Order: sequence, then C-alpha cells, then structure tokens
Amino acid sequence: MWKLSLSELRLTDEDRAAVLEALDSNWLTMGPRTDAFEKAFAAALDAEAPPFAFAVSNCTVGLHMAFVALDIGPGDEVIVPSLTFIASANAALYTGATVVLGDVTSQDDLTLSIADVAAKITPRTRAVVPVHYAGQPCDMQALRDLCQARGVAIVEDVAHAPLADAAVDGQLQALGSIGELGCFSFFSNKNLATGEGGMVVTRDPRLADRLRLLRSHGMTTLTLDRHRGHASSYDVVELGFNYRIDELRAALGLSQLQRLPEVNRRRAEVWHAYRERLRVIDGLRLPFADRPSVGRTAHHILPVLLPEGCERALVQEAMKAAGVQTSIHYPPVHRFSFHGHSDRVIKDHLPITDAIADRLLTLPLSQHLSDADLDLVVSSLQAAVGHACSAAGGVR
Ligand SMILES: Cc1ncc(COP(=O)(O)O)c(C=O)c1O
Repeated sequence: MWKLSLSELRLTDEDRAAVLEALDSNWLTMGPRTDAFEKAFAAALDAEAPPFAFAVSNCTVGLHMAFVALDIGPGDEVIVPSLTFIASANAALYTGATVVLGDVTSQDDLTLSIADVAAKITPRTRAVVPVHYAGQPCDMQALRDLCQARGVAIVEDVAHAPLADAAVDGQLQALGSIGELGCFSFFSNKNLATGEGGMVVTRDPRLADRLRLLRSHGMTTLTLDRHRGHASSYDVVELGFNYRIDELRAALGLSQLQRLPEVNRRRAEVWHAYRERLRVIDGLRLPFADRPSVGRTAHHILPVLLPEGCERALVQEAMKAAGVQTSIHYPPVHRFSFHGHSDRVIKDHLPITDAIADRLLTLPLSQHLSDADLDLVVSSLQAAVGHACSAAGGVR
C-alpha cells in the first residue's frame, strides 16, 4: 500500500541463519544466546567497562523492573516528559507512584527540559526519566549534576537511542549507561529490531542483583541452571515477574548488533540529506537541525514541526495519497483520556509541549532510503503543506 513506510525492517541471511540455529538448538527460553547477546550489548556500550545488562521481553517491562529495583512505589514521584511514548509514564504508574510530567527544552530541542525538571523536583521525587527522543541525547551533564545534588535516580529511556553517546564530565559515554539504569527497546520499528525485546543496563552491582531476580519471579536459579545440573532447586526471595526474553529473539538481536553501528551511521547520513532538502519548505521546522553531533548518534525517527496554522490531518491525508506513510511522535501523555483524568499524573505547566503538539509530524526514516525516496517524501510534503496550510489560512 505504501510506496514509503515509516520504518523498514530488512532482515539478512545472517539474521535468518542465527534464528534457525537457535531453533535447531532445541533450547528456546533464556540460554547461551541470551547470555552472549547481553555480553555483546554491554561491550558495545562500553568496551572497557561494560555495564551489567539484562535482556527482557520489552522496554516497557524493563522500565517497570527498573523502578521496582529502585523500590519506587506509592507516594513517590517520577518525572517523565509528556512528549514520549506512553510506556515511559505507564511503567512508573504500575508501581503506584505518581508521574509528574515535564516539558521539552524548546521547539528545536524536543528532549526533556532540565530547567523544568529542576522546577518540578520535590522531596518526594525518586527518579527522573530522560527520554532520548528521536535518538537525540538529553542534556545528561546538567541532569546528572541536578539529580546527584538532589539524591534522585536517573532511569534513561533509551528506546530510540541504542549506541548513541552524550558528553559527561568531558567524556563521551553511552546513553543508557549514564543514569542508575537504562532501558532499551528492540520493538519491530527500532534501530535494532527483534519484534519484541529490550535490555536493561546498570553499573550498580546491587541493582544488577535485584534485576536478575525480578526478571524471573524472584527465583534464585534459572531453568537453564537446573537443566545444566548446576542447581537442583530454588528459593523465591522476592515478588518477581516473568519478564524474560527467549533464545530466538536473543539470536536475532545478537546478529543485528554486529551491524548496528553501520545502521546508525547510515541513518545519520539519511537524516542529514533530509535536512538539506527540507529547507525548501517555507515555515517548516526541523528540530535538532543545528545541534552539533558529538560521538555516536542513533537518529531513530524524523519528527518535523509543520508551519503554524497547518491542518495536520490534511497533510497526512495528502501524503498518504502520494504513498508516503507519516505518524505522530507523540500525542503528549497529558492529552490521553486516562492520563488526563488520573490524579496520579501531574500535568502542570507544559507550554512548549502544548505549543508543538499539534504541529508534530514524523516522516519516514530508515537506513534503506535512497535519494529518490527522500525526493518523494519532500516533494509530497511540500505539496501537502501548500495545500493544507492554504486551507487553514496560509503559512505563517
Ligand atoms: C520512547 C519509548 N519508550 C518506551 C517504549 C516501549 O518499548 P517496548 O515496545 O519495547 O515496550 C517505546 C516503544 O516504542 C518508546 O518509543
């Protein structure tokens, strides 16, 4: 149906062979491939001092497990940007905690505003969730300094930004390994995609011990340990979950991890090529366009801000007619019925998020896009904006 869809997954022969090999091994739940995936992922984040890494069923449960490992619960507050996928907020709500929504930095920097976090921290704040939106790093230096001074934990939502860096204390550090905990997603549309899947990382050995237990029912041994004869029974030492991954996904993840740096590099090239082309559209704003990129980047999605006064639904319809899929990342958390009405979601003062929410539009982005593909997206967007913005009273 689409000439160009929002994201495009192309598996390789190596990916298929890795999954088949896992299937032929006759061991499907967590096993040696999961172990190898975790080790390789941790080393890809930091070869010299790899963090602890735990593969999980998806990023949402990874975030939940991270909050539980920090003993967050009723009466505690967790600051989460309103401009994120709903999972970042829901995972904190699962614990009984209150979510305090934070604003974005500016119309050019759609990551969590650290100044707003500073204004919203209270004695009840236990954690802040910087979402590295679109693959762009939050200001981790400022956030780390603020959170250290206030005794607040950082749980990074790295769903969009595997193998991207931020500069902290004069050194580039992998996103996800800077806060107390970092949670990655390997959902189908992600830069590394296993269908469902995720990874939780931490540098803290005590948190690592908690994560190991929480992932598998609080049990002291795994099925694999018992299969290998390393243990014959187990105790259950806390209320855990079944948040495990399986060998098929771990094998697929491990296979894709080898090419993730190249995938990210190519996505950056596509993003820059877009940036040049999008300049022709009057009034269109490309967030992050003037950010100097330091270190590794991830460029997961390509959100733009339509000119003020555009009828976004008309733009999307016109692009659909041209065969180009678009989306919205994201309807802000505070505008959903459930979260808008919940007294466990504090939604005060979100002026920038409110100013941009109706102008956000996400364009197709993948490492496979050609120059001709970009020309199609940009020309159809230009035509759609001309049409939908004159219908709404002209580009301002
Ligand atoms: C920013 C963000 N956080 C969390 C998630 C949840 O990830 P998962 O689907 O792996 O649970 C996503 C997934 O799209 C996301 O984009």
